[in-house]
Amino acid sequence: MKTIKLRAKNNKTDYLSVGKLKFAPTKRNAMSVNKEVKRITTHILQEMKHKGEKIAMLTAYDFSMASVLDDAGLDVLLVGDSASNVMAGHETTLPITLDQMIYHAQGVVRGATRAFVVVDLPFGSYQGNSKEALNSAIRIMKESGAHGVKLEGGTEIAESVSRIITAGIPVMGHLGLTPQSIYKFGTYTVRAKDEAEAEKLKVDALALQELGCFAVVLEKIPAKLAKEVSESLIIPTIGIGAGPDCDGQVLVVNDMIGLTKGFKPRFLRQYMNLYDGILGAAKSYINDVKAKDFPNEKEQY
Ligand code: KIV
Repeated sequence: MKTIKLRAKNNKTDYLSVGKLKFAPTKRNAMSVNKEVKRITTHILQEMKHKGEKIAMLTAYDFSMASVLDDAGLDVLLVGDSASNVMAGHETTLPITLDQMIYHAQGVVRGATRAFVVVDLPFGSYQGNSKEALNSAIRIMKESGAHGVKLEGGTEIAESVSRIITAGIPVMGHLGLTPQSIYKFGTYTVRAKDEAEAEKLKVDALALQELGCFAVVLEKIPAKLAKEVSESLIIPTIGIGAGPDCDGQVLVVNDMIGLTKGFKPRFLRQYMNLYDGILGAAKSYINDVKAKDFPNEKEQY
């Protein structure tokens, strides 16, 4: 078993290392008030906003990762359509299908005993009409066992959001940079910097709340705007590249653990460099096999 060592640097900061892997230090050990909770619910997320406890959310796409993240105490696991990028290697989130999202979600649900699991409705599974949106959401809930769905957009998808919520399915909204519209935007740069777009975002956020969404993701918008929106809503906001005043934060787990080589936007804090860790391990394995060192006497029957 690997040992975990704490190494003091400059007599001030402790860096955590596991074998060759190094982890950035955490600022403080803010324990959750919900440690004893069996399963996080939308009601608990709402309570967390009111108590001022930040919501910690990460993406997950399979059983193994979901198990670790759930053990760590993540409040929400998002089966994001970013699986299209980080799992399948597509340039955008557009190609991933509903069947593929359900496959990813099934593994995550099996691995998550405490976290609330939300699944993205993929591009093309809800934009057509509200009946199609409802059917897609029902398939996700029925076939994966997830606890809610996420849709990108504001007032233009109001009918779909309303129909899904009426069917008893919790909905998380997603505003700001909405990657399924990347070809409309043209770039992945910060959204809602101009007044008109900021106003539209505020209207959309309120509309999603009125429709009954339990939370809303704010992606890549100015921190000041995210603060204003977060303070104006009674439902939690979950930010990614939206500053510190959202009620929670989300990152794509592969980015957070340093597995997506060369991807380092300003908003991303990388907690480890798993790419280099795996690279080193794979090279050692190759060497051991070539040198006929693996397997040794103890590693055979
Ligand atoms: O698909 C995804 O990973 C997301 C997050 C970036 C919020 O929607």
